[in-house]
Amino acid sequence: METPTLPTTTPAFEVDTRGIGWITFDDPERKLNVLTEEVMRRLADIVGQAAEAARRGRVKVIVVRSGKPDSFIAGADVDAIAALEDPMEAQEAVRRGQEVYSRIASLPVPTVAAVHGVCVGGGTELALACRHRVLSDSRKTRVGLPEVQLGILPAWGGTTRLPRLVGLQAALDMLLTGRLVEAPEARRIGFADDVVPAEIFLETVADVALGLATGAAVPSRPRRGAVTRFMDENPLGRRVVLAAARARVRRSTGGHYPAPFRILEVLRDHLGGTVEASLDAEAGAAAELIVSPECKNLIHVFHLREAAKKDPALADPSARAMPVDSMAVLGAGVMGGAIAQLAASRGVRVRMKDIRHDAVTGGLQHARELFDKAVGRHRLSRREAAQRMELIGGGIDWTGFAAADLVVEAVVERMDVKRAVLAETESKVSASCVLATNTSSLSVDAMADALRAPGRFCGMHFFNPVDRMPLVEVVRGARTSDGTVATVYALALTLDKVPVVVRDGPGFLVNRILGPYLNEAGYLLGDGATVQEIDAGAKAFGMPMGPLRLIDEVGIDVSTHAGASLHEALGERLAPAPALVALAATGRLGRKGGRGFYIYEKDKEKGVDQTVYADLGASVPATRGGVDQLRVRRRLVGQMINEAARLLEEGVVQRAADVDLAMIMGTGFPPFRGGLLRFADSLHPCGVLDRIEALHKQYGPRFAPAPLIEELARTDRLFYDAFGG
Ligand SMILES: NC(=O)c1ccc[n+]([C@@H]2O[C@H](COP(=O)([O-])OP(=O)(O)OC[C@H]3O[C@@H](n4cnc5c(N)ncnc54)[C@H](O)[C@@H]3O)[C@@H](O)[C@H]2O)c1
Repeated sequence: METPTLPTTTPAFEVDTRGIGWITFDDPERKLNVLTEEVMRRLADIVGQAAEAARRGRVKVIVVRSGKPDSFIAGADVDAIAALEDPMEAQEAVRRGQEVYSRIASLPVPTVAAVHGVCVGGGTELALACRHRVLSDSRKTRVGLPEVQLGILPAWGGTTRLPRLVGLQAALDMLLTGRLVEAPEARRIGFADDVVPAEIFLETVADVALGLATGAAVPSRPRRGAVTRFMDENPLGRRVVLAAARARVRRSTGGHYPAPFRILEVLRDHLGGTVEASLDAEAGAAAELIVSPECKNLIHVFHLREAAKKDPALADPSARAMPVDSMAVLGAGVMGGAIAQLAASRGVRVRMKDIRHDAVTGGLQHARELFDKAVGRHRLSRREAAQRMELIGGGIDWTGFAAADLVVEAVVERMDVKRAVLAETESKVSASCVLATNTSSLSVDAMADALRAPGRFCGMHFFNPVDRMPLVEVVRGARTSDGTVATVYALALTLDKVPVVVRDGPGFLVNRILGPYLNEAGYLLGDGATVQEIDAGAKAFGMPMGPLRLIDEVGIDVSTHAGASLHEALGERLAPAPALVALAATGRLGRKGGRGFYIYEKDKEKGVDQTVYADLGASVPATRGGVDQLRVRRRLVGQMINEAARLLEEGVVQRAADVDLAMIMGTGFPPFRGGLLRFADSLHPCGVLDRIEALHKQYGPRFAPAPLIEELARTDRLFYDAFGG
């Protein structure tokens, strides 16, 4: 069924002897099926052929499938979206997609989307345009509409059709978060009509499709509870649901992202109306969002994430990642327990070792609680959680270490203890076993000295809480082999984390940049700014929480200790702000102690503790307030950019993109700004230099501009030009 006028061969249309018309996506040029303009044009043509075949009675049912082994359709062409600069053009592009899908929705025979593997964005919208959806039971099958993460809304009918299919609340959960759901959840919410075994997927789909065509099979949709139905379908219920969602979005995004608000508006204004009016609204909203700077920056972040999914660029191209089927974790504390749980949740067998029985019990308990949380959030079934929990073993002996492919050390943060533990571990593991430390502040190279084979050793720095923080810094020591880096990097990907390779150095990447940022908040306190002014300034820029709230979260003691290590390693420019030194001496601990800059009751923040000012030492002014937000922000962000420039200069990190990805994934640096250095580039290094020089003049040497910024300004180059990599 070739169409000679169209150069691409995907999708293809074939009618089999049973009267099933198969529309098959299988792009010979790409690993994944992408809905490029060309593919959409061909799809339009093929839908015409399918309609004609249906009218002539040649096909009884149409099935849309993928010819790829483990994926359905990866969505629209992100580069094409990135390139759209004109709202009219954007609207036309959206309209063309909508029209094709509307024609699919009105085909005169039953239509079935046969989804095996990942199915996102335009792929999910295509499935929604079909009358039925049959998913494979493979864990690789995940469906979702992640458009919101790119600063847009699903505009090929997704915003319109999803809530009409699964109900308002389930649809909002997917539309506003962009998260992907696995087959069992898709079935539970009514997205999938059926979930069938992956091993006999297409045969079963064919049977189901023929059953639907002859009327022998009647699709069963799950019945929603009475309350859910009332909230989803009654106008009053909807208003309540939408208002609550709006408040949630405002709280979680600080109002910095327009897309979720536009999604809520489309649903508020059109869910009770016609599909056509809703599609119009989708297209209008998409046209505005596609050309917004937030969308362009979020697409930049998408590219950063995609690039991180490939292997780390290593000097030795023959370096291969070793598969990690079984691992061990040293230390069953806060981090050890969570790392073990993470590994088990992704199917890796793991053994935890501590020196105390009660710590092992605590680590296992911690892991169980994390699994319970996943069950509570419907991410896992009870059975799946129990099966995965069984992959974790624990004890105080060395059981399991001989068979481990990799060991993560997460014992107390003391060099002498870590060196002793690592040296002993080396004598218990196989010659090929990789060793990694989760240290957050100690030198990887100094630890490597304790090992006979330092090539097998590197840092694998997870962030707390492990289940929520996506970043892993893969810390490459001077003697770490490429193979070790490749293995740890690949393991981080298996664990669904975002790895960034950095060199050994004080604070590695994220904590090094956070150091001067948090310290500057201390100087701001010393200059008379209020806690509220400082934190609001950072949040207005888009940080998920202000620096003082972050210090509370990390612990004032821990943060003071980290600040002192940076000071010792990097010199006077990191001398701790006097207000923070005075505060640490009072024994306030932050959240874990119930009092820091804020008061905490039952683990909940209850607002600024007004008595904190009395604990900031004698040198601070008696009157406070009146520091303007822009000033706060320039000082805080100026410190971060300046430090990032030093990291590049010193070669701790190689690429501007690595800084940006690490800051977004490790600190929640606002993705809508595209990253710290992309933001800096938007000011041009000359703009950055002007601002930092002004701060330098006013506040002294801690703001001395990094030589790299001076050089970039002089040579008129952006960070991304000079460190594109
Ligand atoms: N907590 C965080 O926020 C965080 C974040 C990133 C990295 N880290 C790093 O992770 C590591 C662990 O931190 P944590 O917060 O989980 O500490 P923790 O105090 O909760 O746990 C440490 C555990 O190590 C055990 N231990 C001590 N000596 C041991 C030995 N010789 N063999 C086996 N176990 C031993 C202790 O009994 C304890 O259970 C540290 O290096 C820390 O810097 C912590």
